[in-house]
Amino acid sequence: MSRTLVTGGAGFLGSHLCDRLIAAGHEVLCVDNFFTGTKRNVAHLCPNPYFELQRHDVTFPLYVEVDQIYNLACPASPIHYQLDPVQTTKTSVHGAINMLGLAKRVKARILQASTSEVYGDPEIHPQVEAYWGRVNPIGIRSCYDEGKRCAETLFFDYRRQHGVDIKVVRIFNTYGPRMHPNDGRVVSNFIVQAIRGDDISIFGDGQQTRSFCYVDDLVEAMIRMMGTASDFPGPVNIGNPGEFTMLELAEMVIKLTTSRSKLVYRSLPSDDPKQRQPDIGLARQALGWEPKVSLEDGLKETIGYFRRVLGAI
Ligand SMILES: NC(=O)c1ccc[n+]([C@@H]2O[C@H](COP(=O)([O-])OP(=O)(O)OC[C@H]3O[C@@H](n4cnc5c(N)ncnc54)[C@H](O)[C@@H]3O)[C@@H](O)[C@H]2O)c1
Repeated sequence: MSRTLVTGGAGFLGSHLCDRLIAAGHEVLCVDNFFTGTKRNVAHLCPNPYFELQRHDVTFPLYVEVDQIYNLACPASPIHYQLDPVQTTKTSVHGAINMLGLAKRVKARILQASTSEVYGDPEIHPQVEAYWGRVNPIGIRSCYDEGKRCAETLFFDYRRQHGVDIKVVRIFNTYGPRMHPNDGRVVSNFIVQAIRGDDISIFGDGQQTRSFCYVDDLVEAMIRMMGTASDFPGPVNIGNPGEFTMLELAEMVIKLTTSRSKLVYRSLPSDDPKQRQPDIGLARQALGWEPKVSLEDGLKETIGYFRRVLGAI
C-alpha cells in the first residue's frame, strides 16, 4: 500500500484527489492549514482508517514517512491569495522547499500543482509548455504567479542537484463541487449569483476567454502523471482546451439554473489575462489523457453542489 501525502488536501482539488487515492487503495495523509480549505471537504473520509487529517502549515518543515507527495497547498483564487500576498509567496516557495526536502529525505516522488499563471498574460495562443511566459513581477497577482514560477525552479533544481524524482503539472482553470462559494472565481461567482437571482458581474466587455476543466478530469491527469517514468518530470499542461467567452459562460449558467439574473458590466481587474487556453498535446501523448466532461455536464454537477451548500434546495 502506497503512503501518499496530499498537501492542501482539504481544499477543492485536494479533497477530490484524496477521494480518488483512497478509492485506489492508498493510505492518505492529508495536510492542510485550513486557510481556504475546510474539514467539511474531507469529513466523509475521516472514519476511514487509511485516511489521516493533520493541521499543518507547509511553510514549516514536516517530518513524516511517505512514498509519494502531491503538493497542492496554496490559495488559488485571487481574492484569497491577495489577502496576505507575503504568506502566498511563502506558501509556494517555503512550502516547495519543505516538501522537496521531505521528498529528498524519504526518497518520495513529488508532484507539484503548478498553474497556467506561470504563462502570465501570454503572447502565444494556445500556450505550450515550452513557452516561458509573460509575467509582471511586481503586480498584485505576482505573489501567486512568481511564487509558483519559483516553486517550479526549485522542483527542477532539486531534480538536477539532488536527484529528487519530481513531476510538475500546470493546471488551467478547473471547476467543480467543493469550490469555495466566495472565492471570486468566475464559475463559482456566476453560479452563486445565478442561484441567488443577483446580478451577474461581467468584467470588461465579457469577450475575454477562458477554458474550464472539470475536477474529475484534472484528478485523473494528476494521478496518471504521478505514474509516469522518472525520466519524465514535465512540466505538462492539464486543462480543457474548449474555449468560452465570459458572456457564453454566463449565458450557459443562466440557462442551467433557469435564473432571472441580469448581466452587469464592471471594470477589468489589473493584470487579468485576456485569453488563456492550454495546448494539451503533451498530456495526450505522454499521459494518454484528455478531458471527457463537457462544460454543460460539469456545470450541472457544480450547480447541484452550490444549491445544496447555499440551501437553495
Ligand atoms: N483550481 C484551479 O483552477 C487551479 C488552477 C491552477 C492551479 N491550481 C493549484 O492547485 C492547488 C489547489 O487549488 P484549489 O483550487 O484546490 O484551491 P484551494 O484554495 O481550495 O486549496 C488550497 C488548499 O491549500 C491549503 N493551504 C493554503 N496555504 C497553506 C499552507 N501554508 N499550508 C498548508 N495548507 C495550505 C488551503 O487551506 C486549501 O485547503 C493550488 O496549489 C493551486 O495553485 C488550481
